[in-house]
Amino acid sequence: MTAALEGFAGNAGLVDRLRTALSAAGYTVDGVVGLLGAPGHAALLRDATVPGLRALAGDRDPLATLTRLWPLQAPVPAVEAERALPGLVAPLAAAGVLAVAGDAVHALVDVRPYGDEDHDWWVVSDLTPGLDGSTKRVGADHVLGVSPASTTLAQLGVRDPVGRALDLGTGCGVQALHLSGHVAEVVATDVNPRALAMARLTLALSAPGAVVDVRSGSLYEPVGGERFDLVLTNPPFVVSPADGERLVYRDSGLPGDEVVRRIVTGAPAVLADGGWCQVLANWAHVEGQPWEQRVEGWLVGSGCDAWVLQREVLDPAGYVQMWLADAGLVGSPEWAARYDAWLEWFERERIEAVGLGWLSLHRTGRAEPVVRVEDWPYAIEQPVGAEVASWGRRVGVLQGLSADDLLGARLVRAAEVVQETYGEPGSADPERIVLRRGRGVLRARPVDTAEAALVGACDGELTVAQVLDALAVLLDLDPAALRSATLPAVRDLVEEGWLIP
Ligand SMILES: C[S@@+](CC[C@H](N)C(=O)[O-])C[C@H]1O[C@@H](n2cnc3c(N)ncnc32)[C@H](O)[C@@H]1O
Repeated sequence: MTAALEGFAGNAGLVDRLRTALSAAGYTVDGVVGLLGAPGHAALLRDATVPGLRALAGDRDPLATLTRLWPLQAPVPAVEAERALPGLVAPLAAAGVLAVAGDAVHALVDVRPYGDEDHDWWVVSDLTPGLDGSTKRVGADHVLGVSPASTTLAQLGVRDPVGRALDLGTGCGVQALHLSGHVAEVVATDVNPRALAMARLTLALSAPGAVVDVRSGSLYEPVGGERFDLVLTNPPFVVSPADGERLVYRDSGLPGDEVVRRIVTGAPAVLADGGWCQVLANWAHVEGQPWEQRVEGWLVGSGCDAWVLQREVLDPAGYVQMWLADAGLVGSPEWAARYDAWLEWFERERIEAVGLGWLSLHRTGRAEPVVRVEDWPYAIEQPVGAEVASWGRRVGVLQGLSADDLLGARLVRAAEVVQETYGEPGSADPERIVLRRGRGVLRARPVDTAEAALVGACDGELTVAQVLDALAVLLDLDPAALRSATLPAVRDLVEEGWLIP
């Protein structure tokens, strides 16, 4: 099947005709959602097709046919398939995308509309398992479609226009597709031949003019000696024993969080100066070692500034249960034994919990890079990629500023910062002041009167020193003491994006 699919993806004439047919039918995200209606679409997100099929009843237009065939994974009459995909049913069947049985056609491979505000794309992947209560179990080489993790990484990605990017573990090709919009040359790699074939078709269909080199191989092996301005990866990061079940989309075959360690420690060798490597990851919380220390250990000597955000922490049972359910083992005879063996391994390895989060490495070559490791289970405004890039710039500026430079800086308060005060109704002074950022990482920062006033006064006109000296007079404080007490906070305020240098 893989060779036949590769053959289809490499046939520009057939791919052009398929793109034309999908476009002509209006087979886009908006088209499909409009047709299914909100309840039908919401039901499909819950793996139920009945409301969607009811919404389409009697509609024989090409858009309805394609929606039945792919998102709803229902058989369609051959004559309707032929009308929606003129001259393409036979070649798609030969490629293993469709199957023809009598006078009905059904899908073997998914071709799903996907997009952002600027693009209507199609993504090719394996079918969604588990629709309408059917088994969720999939083969070891299953190729996932666009998942919540895929969109999280796409939104985390720094989107500055650059020359070269690497999509490590491309799967269905979704990251490469996003990269093709702002990167001159993309390399997409995977170890799964089915994924490579599907990514090739995704890219040929959706980004025909893009320069994307799809390569086979593990981790950085296919790109040894090359440099990239951006590396994006949503790797097979599940923390499990190396000898456990291996679903290639999530299990690396390496023990614990070793795959993430290898990706992070290998990044500096493939990053160009100023390049970013952004990784969706899981990491072990090992008894007796703070998780921050474990992750920071991977960054020592990297020459990269790094921002690590832990978004969630799961205890071993919660973690194992989530991934056993993902593998479709709920209700299977293996459930209990697999659960037990995995927990046993966690115990042996002294893994007390697993952290789920994001790493963004920025190759600056600084002798003492800035490493920010934080637990942030709270809200983040997506897409957060621009905030990551801005963090990198702010940290770079800060590193070049001595205490005197910082006092002389004319900082500007970020436009979205607001102040909340708490206290007894009617009282003259607040008991507590909290600053809030309404962009990027939606931070809340408790501050004292001086810090709140400083942030309020930073409009780019006055220097930090001028603002602090004026505040010392107003608040009846010693100016030198206020300067030295406040400067560390000013650095924090810049790093966290409250004040822009
Ligand atoms: C979670 S999927 C991510 C797919 C896609 N990039 C996305 O964001 O949705 C992980 C991908 O990594 C691939 N993979 C597994 N082991 C790998 C390895 N050692 N080197 C490169 N890719 C690997 C899998 O085949 C799979 O396509």
